[in-house]
Parts: sequence; C-alpha cells; structure tokens
Amino acid sequence: MRVILLGPPGAGKGTQAERITKDYEIPHISTGDIFRYNIKNNTELGKLAKQYTEKGLLVPDDVTNKIVEDRLSKDDCKDGFLLDGYPRNVVQAESLGKYLENKGLKIDHVLNIIVDRDELVKRLSGRRVCPSCGATYHIVTKPPKVEGICDHCGEKLIQRTDDNIESVLKRLEVYEDETKPLVEYYGKLNLIRNIDGNKPVNEVYKEIQILIGDEV
Ligand code: AP5
Repeated sequence: MRVILLGPPGAGKGTQAERITKDYEIPHISTGDIFRYNIKNNTELGKLAKQYTEKGLLVPDDVTNKIVEDRLSKDDCKDGFLLDGYPRNVVQAESLGKYLENKGLKIDHVLNIIVDRDELVKRLSGRRVCPSCGATYHIVTKPPKVEGICDHCGEKLIQRTDDNIESVLKRLEVYEDETKPLVEYYGKLNLIRNIDGNKPVNEVYKEIQILIGDEV
C-alpha cells in the first residue's frame, strides 16, 4: 500500500503515521524527520535545511525531491510506504508522480487530515518531543508521566525550534498557499480521502482504518 498523509502542521500526521506504519508494516517516510535528523547531526543537508525549517519555510524542492527519491529507491519501500509531509506543493507532487510512473507504481490513498486553525495552534504550541527517541507529547492532552521527562527513555523533553508562535503562524500560511492546493490536485485524481482530525487520536485512527481497509 502506498499512502500520502496530507494536512496542515499539527494535524496529527506524525501521530497517525506511527500507528498506520506499525499496523500495516510499511516504512514511515517523514521529510520533516529526515531534516531534523540531519540538523541534529550537523550534516551539510542539515545546515541548509535549518535555514528554512526554523523560519517555517519549505526546504527547496530540488533538494527535497532528491532525498525522497533516494529513500523510495531503498528495498524496504518496494511493497509500499507512507509519505508524511511530502509532497508539500504541486512541484513536489509532479516530481513524485513522474518518479512513480517511471517505476510503474501508483499511490493508493491520499489521506487529508482536516483540523480547525485554533486547534492547530494549541496543539503545536503545547507539543513537546523527546530529542532521543522522537516520542511526541502535549502538555495538556498527552502529558508525560513525569513532567518534562520522556516516558520511554527518561530523556528531558524539548520544544521543537519551529513550534514558537512566529514559526507556527508562518507554517500555517505556507500550508494555505502551497500545500492546500494539493487537495484539489489529488482530488482530480480521485485519491483524496478526507478525515476529521479534530476528534481524539483513537477516533481519527478508526476513521483512517475504515477508509484504507485491511489492504497491505
Ligand atoms: P514537518 O515535520 O513535516 O512538520 P509539519 O507538517 O509542520 O507537521 P508537524 O510535525 O508539526 O505536525 P503533525 O501533523 O505531524 O502533528 P503531530 O502528530 O506531531 O516539517 C517541518 C519542516 O520541515 C517544515 O516546516 C519545512 O521547513 C520542512 N519540510 C518538511 N517536509 C518538507 C517538504 N516536503 N518540502 C519542503 N520542506 C519540508 O501532532 C501535533 C501535536 O498534536 C502533538 O502534540 C500531538 O500529541 C497532538 N495531537 C495529534 N493528534 C491529536 C488529536 N487527534 N487530538 C489532540 N491532540 C492531537
């Protein structure tokens, strides 16, 4: 199964991706995670990506498209994958489309998670993440057992550098201008499946399961 998760920042793409990829046994490809890993390790890609991600801007398409193609060419993607946060504009969607077409492959579902704007701002400003294992929390809706400490590995939780209010508002603006047009793009291809992401995590996941069924 080949799936794209679409939705604004804070919609719960990463949260739902974790469950889908575990249950359906497909690799989780998050361009945001790839950039954060490279930023943490101070690679050349990380140095470049940092300049964009901290401001809430998109990393240039040529760089991002190349990273995704390299990742999709790996063996573990041959029977399926989940793309989280990619494509993010029409240029990236066209690049992905060409890549898959050349391989004789197609996307099965584009899951579009819809959440109210006020809720998105609340979710992002309250999010805390573990810099070691990547677990995600929320100070109100999903707090760790011990304040500020990861339940899984005991590491001190941090706030993502792009979860400050200035970057959050910029990311939402970039989403409206660049990413939202993909709903129409994939709608024309009859691939869009809309999901109400305002509901609790478990309910959102149930809706996703009904939409994608048990195909693997
Ligand atoms: P990326 O990492 O993709 O960030 P994003 O799209 O802004 O999405 P987030 O990770 O912030 O949110 P999410 O939807 O995954 O929500 P989550 O599950 O964490 O990208 C970061 C940056 O990298 C970009 O700004 C850009 O610079 C760059 N980049 C990435 N991809 C790129 C590309 N293709 N091209 C160019 N540049 C790119 O949930 C958020 C919070 O809400 C959590 O606290 C969670 O616990 C909570 N929550 C989740 N679901 C629910 C629910 N149902 N109810 C209540 N709370 C919930």
